[in-house]
Amino acid sequence: MNLRKSAHESRTELTVMMLPSDANPKGNVFGGVIMKHVDLAAGLVAKRHARNTNCVTASIDRMTFLKPVYIGHALILSARLNYVRRSSMEVEVGIESENLDDGTRVRTGTAFVTMVALDSNGSPTEVPQLVLKTTDDRIRFQKGEARMQSRLKEAGKFQKTNP
Ligand SMILES: CC(C)(COP(=O)(O)OP(=O)(O)OC[C@H]1O[C@@H](n2cnc3c(N)ncnc32)[C@H](O)[C@@H]1OP(=O)(O)O)[C@@H](O)C(=O)NCCC(=O)NCCS
Repeated sequence: MNLRKSAHESRTELTVMMLPSDANPKGNVFGGVIMKHVDLAAGLVAKRHARNTNCVTASIDRMTFLKPVYIGHALILSARLNYVRRSSMEVEVGIESENLDDGTRVRTGTAFVTMVALDSNGSPTEVPQLVLKTTDDRIRFQKGEARMQSRLKEAGKFQKTNP
């Protein structure tokens, strides 16, 4: 595939109000609810990049919840591509919580999600390569490549170079 796309084209911001059904009896939003929305935002980025494919989650790196998110707050997820191999894509999702009463925003964490594009037979399929336009794009790509090598090594799928 010769098609190349920039990370800018698939950037996604998702804002969701947290409701009582998302939280424990003390009002703290469940980590699993946050992870569900992280997965959704990463899936949107992958789908915008890979378009006519089925994008599935291959892995989510270890996540730490730095600050609580409460019922009535907005969960704000800012997701973008860092790195693309053949069929796999590393999406970085920044997680923030906004107090809707006073507008203050708190960074609550960052997640790295690997999405894989599948064709109509369910086989991994090639996606457009990333156009690296800025120094930031290049640094993100290099760091994403290093993280991908570590996670593939952990999964017993280590490859030294891009396929
Ligand atoms: C993700 C999945 C398609 C990989 O299938 P596979 O048979 O291991 O295929 P391959 O070994 O050919 O790998 C395909 C791509 O996935 C990547 N990959 C596989 N396992 C990975 C992992 N644990 N972490 C990151 N990337 C992974 C490979 O590096 C490869 O990427 P590349 O084409 O860019 O080089 C398969 O494991 C799957 O379908 N998992 C379930 C996905 C799902 O349903 N997710 C929803 C949550 S349950």
